[in-house]
Amino acid sequence: MNRKKLHVITWGCQMNVYDSGRMEDVLRPLGYAPVDAPADADMVILNTCHIRDRATEKVFSELGRLRALRDETGRPGIIAVAGCVAQAEGQEILARAPFVDLVVGPQAYHRLPELVARAARAGGAVIDTDFPAESKFDHLPEERTAPGVTAFLTIQEGCDKFCAFCVVPYTRGAEASRPAGAVIAEARRLVAAGAREITLLGQNVNAWHGEAPDGGTWGLGRLIRALADIPGLARIRYTTSHPRDMDDDLIDAHGQVPALMPFLHLPVQSGSDQVLRAMNRGHDVPFYERLVERLRAARPDLALSTDFIVGHPGESEADFDATMRLVERVTFASAFSFKYSARPGTPAAGLPQIEESVRDRRLQTLQALLRDQQAEFNAGCVGLTLPVLITGPGRHPGQIAGRSPYLQPVHLTGPISAVGQELPVHIAASHPNSLAGTIEERACA
Ligand code: SAH
Ligand code: SF4
Ligand code: F3S
Repeated sequence: MNRKKLHVITWGCQMNVYDSGRMEDVLRPLGYAPVDAPADADMVILNTCHIRDRATEKVFSELGRLRALRDETGRPGIIAVAGCVAQAEGQEILARAPFVDLVVGPQAYHRLPELVARAARAGGAVIDTDFPAESKFDHLPEERTAPGVTAFLTIQEGCDKFCAFCVVPYTRGAEASRPAGAVIAEARRLVAAGAREITLLGQNVNAWHGEAPDGGTWGLGRLIRALADIPGLARIRYTTSHPRDMDDDLIDAHGQVPALMPFLHLPVQSGSDQVLRAMNRGHDVPFYERLVERLRAARPDLALSTDFIVGHPGESEADFDATMRLVERVTFASAFSFKYSARPGTPAAGLPQIEESVRDRRLQTLQALLRDQQAEFNAGCVGLTLPVLITGPGRHPGQIAGRSPYLQPVHLTGPISAVGQELPVHIAASHPNSLAGTIEERACA
């Protein structure tokens, strides 16, 4: 087989990370092996994100660099653009960067072997941004690159919610769930290959409702219970969930399934009912807070993270204030917050926009509060003994790194042979984004 080198650059969410791995898997039988530098590669794939304008612009600057590289060295022979920008702006990419050889949307990755063969032959660019009738998951190879201690597993893709600000329903298409049997089989393969923690992925992961092994339909709570039975799988997480899709069984699972980690990313976007309505989120603030209460009742040590957008069209100073008050009431262990970015083709982009300086100021104000809450949450871990899953070597010789149940990176001294083990760690210090500790000697019985 002809040996070829592939370099994939990934932006965006965890699903893109998963997809990049799957693109490598689908191209491996063609002789492509991953390499670290674009300069060494026969093919470079940019796996792109369309969520905010800055994410999209990064693609074009990287394309400029790749063209310069090719002008100088003749490589990479194939430049491909995949992901959400490919899906949303395939034709614009070819117009702005005519040297691109291949544009492929997220639902067509299983067709890559054929597309790459055509791109290698063709005089012009090859583009596939269809939403094929067949599911790519039925056609992707079972084989996956050996996962690390932690692995992603896409179980649901697409979104039917159409929040007014968001491109995802257009770039990822309609909600679709993989069957439970396929998910469980993939999880078993990951665990057999060394994964101890699996994060289930979906744009609305808790909207998952997959065909059950007995032909019925399961919700996410039921799936998590089935996955928890896989020997060797120590930890389960899921992301990103939508408040509206959090059903009773899933809430109960948080209290009943020890492998389900006590940390949940539950985006709220705004603390103002008026803005949530304008965003078309389908829930109000009291609904979110009641949900948090129920989750915390089911799992008292549950820590939350969330997403916010500030400066959405229509957001007044009072609305922004309401977001600050919500953060104070709920308290988050961590959070992502973004300035609203008008996206072409979305309803909110057509509304009167909030001034950039106002968006900047609100973002800084909110982030200061969120940073304080995160620091406080981390500081609250000092003195505790937490189970830490060791994921790899640390920054310095003799150090190893892992993650806490709450997804905090933990640095400690220990042998590299501990990778893959979940160890009790006494937390001695906290930092803004991480913890440090020492392995607790197990008490003798
Ligand atoms: N499905 C998830 C979010 C996926 S996008 C959910 O429903 O919450 C990830 C985050 O990007 C969103 O939660 C939102 O906070 C942010 N985001 C999405 N569109 C945006 C836009 N136009 N401008 C700024 N931030 C945006
Ligand atoms: Fe985007 Fe809303 Fe769908 Fe999340 S639920 S992906 S924010 S449209
Ligand atoms: Fe970005 Fe697409 Fe994910 S727009 S956030 S890569 S679903």
